[in-house]
Amino acid sequence: MAPHKTLFVVLLSSILLSLVSSSPVSSGEDSIPKYVYVCDASRYKHLGLDMANFAFCDKSLPYEVRAKDLVDSMTLIEKAEQMGDNTSLGIPRLGLPRYRWWSEALHGISDFGQSLKFDSVVPNATSFPTVILSAATFNQTLWKTLGQVVSTEARAMYNLGRSGLTFWSPNINVVRDPRWGRTLETPGEDPFLAGTYAVNYVRGLQDIEGDNSTDLNSRPLKVSACCKHLTAYDIDNYQGVSRTSYNAKTMEQDMVETFNKPFEMCVKEGDVSSVMYIVSDCDSIHEIVHSHHWLDDTLKDASAQVLQAGMDLDCGVSYLSLPNSVKQGKVKESDIDQALKNLYIVLMRLGYFDGIPSLASLDKNNICPEEHIELAAEAARQGIVLLKNEKQTLPLDPSKFQHLALIGIPCQYSSPLDAFSAFGQVTYEIGCGDVKCKNDSLIFRATKAAKNADATLLFVGLNLDVEAESLDRNDLLLPGYQTQLIKAVAEASKGPVILVIMSAGEVDVSFAKHNPKINSILWVGYPGQEGGRAIADVVFGKYNPGGRLPLTWYGYDYIQKLPMTSMTFRPVDNGDEVYPGRTYRFYNGSTVYPFGYGLSYTNFKYEANPKEISLDIKLNRFQHCHELTLKNETKTDQPCPSVSVDDLTCDDQVAFEVDVHNVGERDGNDVVLVYTVAPKEIDGTPIKQLVGFERVFVAAKGSKKVKFALNACKSFNIVNFSGYKLLPSGLHRIVIGDNAISIPVQVSYKR
Ligand SMILES: *[C@@H]1O[C@H](CO)[C@@H](O)[C@H](O)[C@H]1NC(C)=O
Ligand SMILES: *[C@@H]1O[C@H](CO)[C@@H](O)[C@H](O)[C@H]1NC(C)=O
Ligand SMILES: *[C@@H]1O[C@H](CO)[C@@H](O)[C@H](O)[C@H]1NC(C)=O
Ligand SMILES: *[C@@H]1O[C@H](CO)[C@@H](O)[C@H](O)[C@H]1NC(C)=O
Ligand SMILES: *[C@@H]1O[C@H](CO)[C@@H](O)[C@H](O)[C@H]1NC(C)=O
Ligand SMILES: *[C@@H]1O[C@H](CO)[C@@H](O)[C@H](O)[C@H]1NC(C)=O
Ligand SMILES: *[C@@H]1O[C@H](CO)[C@@H](O)[C@H](O)[C@H]1NC(C)=O
Ligand SMILES: *[C@@H]1O[C@H](CO)[C@@H](O)[C@H](O)[C@H]1NC(C)=O
Repeated sequence: MAPHKTLFVVLLSSILLSLVSSSPVSSGEDSIPKYVYVCDASRYKHLGLDMANFAFCDKSLPYEVRAKDLVDSMTLIEKAEQMGDNTSLGIPRLGLPRYRWWSEALHGISDFGQSLKFDSVVPNATSFPTVILSAATFNQTLWKTLGQVVSTEARAMYNLGRSGLTFWSPNINVVRDPRWGRTLETPGEDPFLAGTYAVNYVRGLQDIEGDNSTDLNSRPLKVSACCKHLTAYDIDNYQGVSRTSYNAKTMEQDMVETFNKPFEMCVKEGDVSSVMYIVSDCDSIHEIVHSHHWLDDTLKDASAQVLQAGMDLDCGVSYLSLPNSVKQGKVKESDIDQALKNLYIVLMRLGYFDGIPSLASLDKNNICPEEHIELAAEAARQGIVLLKNEKQTLPLDPSKFQHLALIGIPCQYSSPLDAFSAFGQVTYEIGCGDVKCKNDSLIFRATKAAKNADATLLFVGLNLDVEAESLDRNDLLLPGYQTQLIKAVAEASKGPVILVIMSAGEVDVSFAKHNPKINSILWVGYPGQEGGRAIADVVFGKYNPGGRLPLTWYGYDYIQKLPMTSMTFRPVDNGDEVYPGRTYRFYNGSTVYPFGYGLSYTNFKYEANPKEISLDIKLNRFQHCHELTLKNETKTDQPCPSVSVDDLTCDDQVAFEVDVHNVGERDGNDVVLVYTVAPKEIDGTPIKQLVGFERVFVAAKGSKKVKFALNACKSFNIVNFSGYKLLPSGLHRIVIGDNAISIPVQVSYKR
């Protein structure tokens, strides 16, 4: 330890509380029934039943047949009871236990749902960074690994009788507006990024290693994932507009192009076993009746209608009215049967009836082992985004500091104060009483400490008191006196000032970006239980940051130009309303930091091959050409302007490779972002759209080749006003990174 080195940490203490996802529950462990699977002969014997009498336990039969047998064994009232999260009390005469459907695993298993319970046997679990920071890694391998580790902890909880197997995660609603309170739960503003996150996380949660089964209706599941919520949900509570009653009026074009895209990918590429259309969110039927007043429905009518619309499971008690609706001829009992069969087939795939031998040994030792804790640290390190680094202030020289120690919550917990204390003498000042920082009473003490320190680390930002479910923001600024705190401390500091921002949504920190006394800025999301350690690793150069912003950081005045309730992505100009576009795909104004932004301690240069690409697609007589809407005063010389993607075989690939050269002195991680741009004559297309990305490690002075093969239909389509996906002919472009490289792609149709 070098005693003359004082490292000063200003820390808003309550920010860190939002790192914790799961709260320990101390009692009730004995009241939770423990069983490993339903169709266990000795279990039946214990219940005084003979398992041989129940065909649904016959493993030689297909799931479809077994599920039908189970459902056919129930009375109408029993059927309805099994279709609600907390009304599914089981049926003793069939040996069917109670099952609670609702569990949560957004960034680690959580006791927020009804089924998973922590107690003195398992008091806690690994808490990974919130999703918005994991998204910033742009690392598909990491997302899948996170899903695998979370499902291992979940399955262990199930084996211990402390959890169900059906997890209502991930949340993949696109962040349309920077004010949204639930940004932290999501992978950000881009539909392809959100979809790619979903595919990997869901595969990590659901797929069983080594399983090679090909029948999608029977392939086994480690746990069941659910892509949520209902599409186009992204307002919680905005100036009196409440999520429970707001009527989100959307355009078909935005539905196809943006809102539905992550869900489509989650289903088609992730093979998710549930989405929040066939499973309700909690109390949703109640909301239809009491908040939306949809069709002036009664609860009973709404229940009947959503069943007919395909909702298999209700998180609530409303489905208890279904037997009456059947008696009145309002629904068919066979619709109930079908819903239940769907539900039980998922439970059969999960081994709820038969067990899954390869997962049977997971237990307490698989919850919070060292490698999961390391993964939590690794995910946070990979996600951290370096936004500013004047005069290469970061990394701070580690040779002058000692190794860091760890102290913990939930399994353990590494705060910045703990982590930085391990590197040197730390003077700690709180700076503000809480995140809302309502007065400046503590700022003077903070400036005094900064005056004497060799380096100042300022931790500022938001927490769940500012952005959360049911809580949208009214501005994009740091709350209260935080800005004053930063300015005063920066002014007073003797040494370099490093600003560390904890938030999910953006904060307009232009003042800090332009302040020469603030040398470096890091965005660290809400980094999970190992966050403090991860931040220290980045600050001292043990890890070279490579995260990229999964959101556009607009200026504070952006939201004054459009209400949160305007659902469209394209700019609006209809005389009465003039609004800017939304997200990097449609907003062409200035930003504080753009989508995809992030620096490194080294520099990368790209080279791409080939330099140009052409794609000739041969059409048969059933494939028709369609006109496109062109920009004024432009023309196309294309005889066939576009073809509907639904009419194409879609097996054409556009392949190219990017050489990533690390031209600096340090090893580092780069994210190669690949966008496409549609032919410039076409009206109303996105400025550019993300179609591929890859995170790569490149040693100092080294290079790495990254190969991409884009499917022409998926990566070059445009969505027209009426919601058709079309593949236009003409001159498209592939753009790599921040417009660093552009590859022309000529698409033409031939008969
Ligand atoms: C369902 O759960 C809610 C909230 O946990 C509770 O108030 C209600 O009594 C439960 N109903 C049944 C039938 O278990
Ligand atoms: C799947 O793997 C098992 C053993 O690992 C093998 O016996 C079986 O034939 C494989 N099935 C298919 C469809 O490849
Ligand atoms: C988490 O649980 C472990 C036991 O599994 C315990 O040793 C540790 O103290 C707990 N951590 C917290 C923060 O409660
Ligand atoms: C300033 O805020 C702190 C913490 O929020 C509070 O305890 C204190 O009373 C406030 N002081 C004044 C002068 O309002
Ligand atoms: C940005 O978009 C707006 C609205 O469509 C348009 O009026 C403006 O000309 C565009 N600005 C630039 C620099 O392209
Ligand atoms: C394009 O031309 C049409 C018809 O001439 C006109 O109504 C429209 O305002 C023009 N649009 C723009 C953006 O100039
Ligand atoms: C991506 O994540 C995996 C899993 O944590 C890790 O092994 C790999 O190094 C990461 N790749 C890069 C380039 O950071
Ligand atoms: C969109 O494309 C479809 C299919 O080609 C076409 O029928 C429709 O008219 C187009 N809509 C608009 C608004 O151009």
